[in-house]
Amino acid sequence: MKIGFIGVGKMASAIITGLKKTEHDIIVSGSTPARSQEIAEQLGVTASSSHQDLIDQADLVILGIKPQMFEKVLSDLTFKQPIMSMAAGVTLERLASLTSPDLPLIRIMPNLNAQILKSSTALCANDKVTAELFATAKTITDSFGTSFEIAEKDFDTFTALAGSSPAYIYLFIEAMAKAGVKNGLTKAQSLEIVSQTVLASAENLLAGEDSPHDLIDKICSPGGTTIAGLMDLERTGLTHSVSSAIDTTIQKAKEL
Ligand SMILES: NC(=O)c1ccc[n+]([C@@H]2O[C@H](COP(=O)([O-])OP(=O)(O)OC[C@H]3O[C@@H](n4cnc5c(N)ncnc54)[C@H](OP(=O)(O)O)[C@@H]3O)[C@@H](O)[C@H]2O)c1
Repeated sequence: MKIGFIGVGKMASAIITGLKKTEHDIIVSGSTPARSQEIAEQLGVTASSSHQDLIDQADLVILGIKPQMFEKVLSDLTFKQPIMSMAAGVTLERLASLTSPDLPLIRIMPNLNAQILKSSTALCANDKVTAELFATAKTITDSFGTSFEIAEKDFDTFTALAGSSPAYIYLFIEAMAKAGVKNGLTKAQSLEIVSQTVLASAENLLAGEDSPHDLIDKICSPGGTTIAGLMDLERTGLTHSVSSAIDTTIQKAKEL
């Protein structure tokens, strides 16, 4: 299959890294023909001379532009093939209204861990997408991580839990590392210690049957250090703070 990308920034570049391991041919069209050339050289793919030239060649078009650019970019174009969009907050219905009501449309929500081929990616499709096309779309999302088929109504929640959450997890890591520095470790030591611990804790959770609460109970010995810190985290409202941030993210996705 020939896959064309319109708009190749951070996320599309990460996805292309995964896709290059597959059999698909890749062509790209950036903000200008010069940018298309530059990106194509960087990523080792083919540049097209214009968005329409890309549309004329591609079997599937993936939109890597920002949600705010959709109206401007899509109003000049006529599509004939399936389209995949990764844009936060842009529904299949809106995409159909900006392109054509008859086209197969696939919506995905990746995250920046696509850069290391470990994105958590949601996907859903409109009723024009055949089972075969959906399976192909899933091989595309599988090429840069783990795919989750979810209902479109849950996309904004997924955006918060997986699309945006790496930023929140980095903030948590940064806060832990700062606390390490406050108590005498170097920043580099702290970051390495915390990052390895976050990684292994997630792996441990995924590997076994224990829930987060089961694991928390295993770490907290009676009257010990961990339960003291845990109570303090709850006193300052960690659960509420995280839940509130997720609600704010969902609300923002609905406004885009
Ligand atoms: N970043 C994330 O973690 C993340 C997570 C989930 C979903 N997404 C979604 O992924 C999409 C891209 O986000 P991003 O983070 O990759 O943003 P980005 O790095 O800013 O990429 C957007 C790209 O669009 C290009 N562009 C601007 N105008 C264009 C035009 N008229 N025609 C073609 N290309 C044009 C820009 O080119 P120039 O560089 O030349 O300006 C830029 O390379 C968004 O819809 C976002 O919602 C991102």
